[in-house]
Amino acid sequence: MENQEQNYEDFISTVSHELRTPLTSIRGFSQTMLASWDKLDDESKKKFIKIIEEQSLRLINLVENMLAVTKLHSKNIYIFNETNIKPLIEQTITIVKSKYSSQKFDFSCPEKLPNIFADKDKFQQIMTNLIENSAKYSPEGSTTEIAAYEQGESVIICVTNLGIHIDKDDYDKIFTKFSRIDNPLTRKVQGSGLGLYITKTLTEKMGGSISVKSEPVANSEYDRITFTLSMPVKNIEEQARIKCNQ
Ligand SMILES: Nc1ncnc2c1ncn2[C@@H]1O[C@H](COP(=O)(O)OP(=O)(O)O)[C@@H](O)[C@H]1O
Ligand SMILES: [Mg+2]
Repeated sequence: MENQEQNYEDFISTVSHELRTPLTSIRGFSQTMLASWDKLDDESKKKFIKIIEEQSLRLINLVENMLAVTKLHSKNIYIFNETNIKPLIEQTITIVKSKYSSQKFDFSCPEKLPNIFADKDKFQQIMTNLIENSAKYSPEGSTTEIAAYEQGESVIICVTNLGIHIDKDDYDKIFTKFSRIDNPLTRKVQGSGLGLYITKTLTEKMGGSISVKSEPVANSEYDRITFTLSMPVKNIEEQARIKCNQ
């Protein structure tokens, strides 16, 4: 119980901090504009409004992510079906590419890949988080490789990008709530640190697993960072088990 209370307090204090930072900047820039409207040139006004817009977007993302977190553990939000992942991954790449136009994506997938047994929307949420991260945390103009293949009773999806080395000690940490690694590539983009926590929880709720690996690249300041997702293939026994539990 004490532990739970501590977790709750930590959660509230982190959330308050995460909310306060963008709010302070929205308030500060609005106040400056109100107080000095006549003295500011158009370019400065535009710059300040842009900051306000970005910070509001940051708040919206944070609130959406927090809502996603609260829903993660509610029952009956998972609708399991045979899911063909190829078109879902292609769609996700198109969406992320439209947001991060300088980043490149290379998707490889065999002609015949078995369907996975999962919730289609949740799977797409997982892929969006992983592919968006790869675009955000890799050097500009680099390529994210996405590969899907069958392995035993699972389909494996690897998402690999160049990025700043992640210490082995941080492999587990980045999947926890609000954790971000401070480095030049993460500092220049905004994030709540909730994405991988949501991703891991959704994955595990659907019987899958996820892990990360950071490997050095010869003559490069960057590592190859790979997120490996394993999702169960449709399986009659599993299907029956899930139906029984509903
Ligand atoms: N593909 C990636 N390459 C390099 N670092 C990553 C990648 N994905 C995640 N990270 C690191 O893990 C942290 C947590 O990611 P995430 O939970 O999605 O939160 P957010 O994106 O909001 O920061 C990121 O801040 C970043 O430091
Ligand atoms: Mg993220």
